[in-house]
Order: sequence, then C-alpha cells, then structure tokens
Amino acid sequence: MPGHKGGADSKNIMSRLNGLFDLDITEISGADSLFEADGIIAESERNMSQLYGSAATVYSAGGSTLCIQAMLTLMKQDNRKVFAVRNVHRAFLNACALLDIDAEWIMPEYNGSILSGEISLSDVEKRLKDCRKPSCLYITSPDYTGKTADIRSLAEICHRYGAKLIVDNAHGAHLAFMPENIHPINVGADLCCDSAHKMLPALTGSAMLHTSCIEYADRLKQAMSFFGSTSPSYLIMASLDLCCEYISCQIKADIKRNSADISAFRNRFSDRLSFADGELFHITVKASESGYNGNELAQLMRENGAECEYSDDDLLILLMSPVNVSDDYIRLAEILEKSLEKAERHTVKNEKFSLSLPEKAMSVRDAVFSPTEEIPVDSAEGRICASVKVPCPPAIPIASSGEIISRECINIFKKYGILTVNVVKYKDEELLCDIEKIHTTEQGAERIRNNMSADIPDADRWCRDKIADYSSVIRKGKNLYYTCEDCVITVNAKSCTVITVHPKRK
Ligand SMILES: Cc1ncc(COP(=O)(O)O)c(C=O)c1O
Repeated sequence: MPGHKGGADSKNIMSRLNGLFDLDITEISGADSLFEADGIIAESERNMSQLYGSAATVYSAGGSTLCIQAMLTLMKQDNRKVFAVRNVHRAFLNACALLDIDAEWIMPEYNGSILSGEISLSDVEKRLKDCRKPSCLYITSPDYTGKTADIRSLAEICHRYGAKLIVDNAHGAHLAFMPENIHPINVGADLCCDSAHKMLPALTGSAMLHTSCIEYADRLKQAMSFFGSTSPSYLIMASLDLCCEYISCQIKADIKRNSADISAFRNRFSDRLSFADGELFHITVKASESGYNGNELAQLMRENGAECEYSDDDLLILLMSPVNVSDDYIRLAEILEKSLEKAERHTVKNEKFSLSLPEKAMSVRDAVFSPTEEIPVDSAEGRICASVKVPCPPAIPIASSGEIISRECINIFKKYGILTVNVVKYKDEELLCDIEKIHTTEQGAERIRNNMSADIPDADRWCRDKIADYSSVIRKGKNLYYTCEDCVITVNAKSCTVITVHPKRK
C-alpha cells in the first residue's frame, strides 16, 4: 500500500497526480502513525501546539467534523450534559446522533438571518447554574457570517460553574495570528477545532483539535480514533506540517497586508452596501438590507468570474484568506462593481428573523436511526424530523432530528429553497386505530349526518363499518384520514375519535 505505488506507471491516467502520489505514503517505518504518533507527526503537532499556545494540538485528516466527534466523545466519557447554542453545523448534529447525545439548546437571538445570532450571557449563566450535572457549553464561533462570540466571557461563566467550553472554530484557524490573538484557546476555551483547509493554505480535509486542558491532552487521539479512518491521508498531514511552517514564517505579514486590502475593499463599497460585523476575512454583505437579492448578486458575480462562499436572498458571503494578494481584491472589486451595475434593485428589507425552538418528540439518535421517508415540506406539519436538511453548507437546523416540524419551520424551509424533508416513518400502529375503539362525539355525529346528507342513527357503528372497508389511510399530524368507498373519515389517531366525515369528491 498505497495501491498507486507512487504513480509508477507514467502513462497511466493517474500520472496527472504524480507529484501528489510521492507524498501519499502510509504508516511505513519513519512515517509515524497519526493515532499512535511518536515520531515526525508528533513532532509536527508539538510545533503546531506551540504556535497556538495550546496544552496539546492533534491533526485531523477528517476535517473539523472528526474533531467535533472527538470533542463530544470526551464530553460523553466525562458524562457531561451538553448545552449548545443552536447555530451548530450539521457535523455536531450527526455526532450527537452517533454518540446518543441530546443537547439542550440555547437559542440565539437571530440577527437578520438563520446563519447568525447573538447569545445572551445571562441566559447561558442561568442554564449552567441551574444544571445539577457536570456540563459543557458548545458554541460555533466564528459563525458562518464571520461573527465571533465573546469567548472570554463565556469561558469565565463556564469555569465558574465547573463547565467546559467547547468551540467550533472551523472558520477561525487564523485568529491566533491576528494583531490581537482572539483564538478560542487563547481566550479560555477548553477544547476547540480549526478547519485548516478553510482559512489556511492547507488541503481539504485538514483540521486541528486543540485543548488548553492538561487532562485532555493525552485523550485527544483516542477520542478521535473512534471515528477516524485507520488510513488517514499523509497528503493532508503533510499539508498541515507545511502550514505549520507557513504560520511561523509568514502568516502575520500576510494578515497585515490583507487587512489593508480588505479595509480598502469595504470602504470602496460602503456607500452602497452594508456589511455585517465580524472577523476580518469574512466579507459578509447584507444584501437585502442594501436593496439587493443575495442570490441574484451571487449569480451575477459567478457570471463575471467570482464564486461566492455563500448566498441566500438576504446575504452574500465572500471568504478571503491570508494568502490572497492585492490583485485578488482589485479583480473582486471590479467584478462586484459590474454585478452591482446589472443587479436589480429591491426594496430595502430589514426584517428580524425569528424561529422558535420546535417541540421535541424523540431523541436525536432514535429519530436518525428510525425508518424514514422523504416527503414534500407542505405535508410535513406535525411530522418528526429525521435527518436535518440545511440550506447550504453549513447551516443551522430549522428543525433538528427528533423535533416536530411546525408550520413556522415549513415557512422557513421554503424561504431557503428546501422543498422536501426527511421524516420518521409512522409505525403501523400509528397509522391505524383499533377499530373497536372508533367512536365520535354528539357534535361529530351531527356533522357526519349533515356532511353525508344521510340519516345515520348510530354514527359510531356507521364509522366502524366504513373504516373496516377503507381503501387507503394517511396520517397528517395528529389525524388519520381514511379513504372509504364514498367518503373520507378524519380520526384523531390517539383517541380514535372521528372528527368529521366528508363525501368523496367524484
Ligand atoms: C462551522 C462549521 N463547523 C464544522 C464544519 C465541518 O468542517 P470540515 O468540513 O472541516 O469537516 C464546517 C464546514 O463547513 C463549518 O462551517
């Protein structure tokens, strides 16, 4: 192994990757082994740890996704309750399903979009104070728009109540090297992950898991190895090692250079566009607040040669990195100018986005591992969400696994262009009532007689006879709809009460 043998056959189509094959080795002598590192990988990780000022840093060839799985494994091993600020990435939700963790949500106050919100420190404090078990707080910062949370204050609150602070810093690997070091590890987080591939010059899939706690230093690898491949990519590890060199030699100068370019870029457009506050490299245009549609603007920019990181009707996110050079900003500004010239103007929108926490019906794990079906969102009211649908990577769950999809959720799904949802399939017993229990009320009997224009002396018996011969049944929310020969009968599934009967449309 590896099967490509270093790209031995130069006529092979794979020879195009020859340079890469040379570096794509496996756990041969001298190459060390990621999960049992004591050689060159361990040395590179120590170097990285020094740069970040962590108690330990380990490499991940499975992105921040693997680091999130590892961080939550540690919390599970410590039997800690997990509080999570709701704007989490899907990786967190999947890890919760795998580890059977039912996080308690802390809802942020959304600021204009599903992507970003403000959390109240006093809310966090109250939740941690009231918790009788050891706990932890999980937060995503920077969020997808680049907004950073007050990690220093959150860490103080967590530590006051013996809780750990875990930060999904997938978008913030560079924060340690800004003029003010605001990397989560430097300002109090206990554990944190950085996707090196997002903000640093590293290969896709490369990430780092840091801890500031000695107690976790020796446990990171074991926690990660539960979920990581036993054949982690050496290419990715080599790129992390090169990143280490880049950080020690160059990143600070690059950040300084980019900082001037980004300020100039923002200033150039500040009379026409409003930008969201956040960390330097996320240029988040509040499109609808500026009188544009974010998706339309992104499409125009694509046609003019620039691919945006994300867009929806309200936002347009341009993601830069320390390796960008001044010419990139000049080109980007020209493309944005051209796109703005062509873009249609819309009425300026400044709506507050809100989404309440949906009601929970079952555990995340039960919902994810139940038989599921994909249904149109319009018929999803009252159904239990199975796996989470998100507008675009990454996203905040509109309804999370195990939660009941409400009308409010459906409207937001549609706003983000999500037209189908994955829901837990009904069990047979949830789709049928015990026929002997079927009954109606006095008003129900009256309604049935009126709707069917018939003289029905014993409505209970009449309904049972009809249902005994039903041709199909569906469930919507709490009700079952039995289609019979000449009518559709609506029955409350739990109490088996017939609510109404309508003649079948011819
Ligand atoms: C906030 C956040 N967390 C975690 C992840 C997962 O990171 P990775 O793709 O490195 O596994 C992403 C990816 O988009 C993300 O945006």
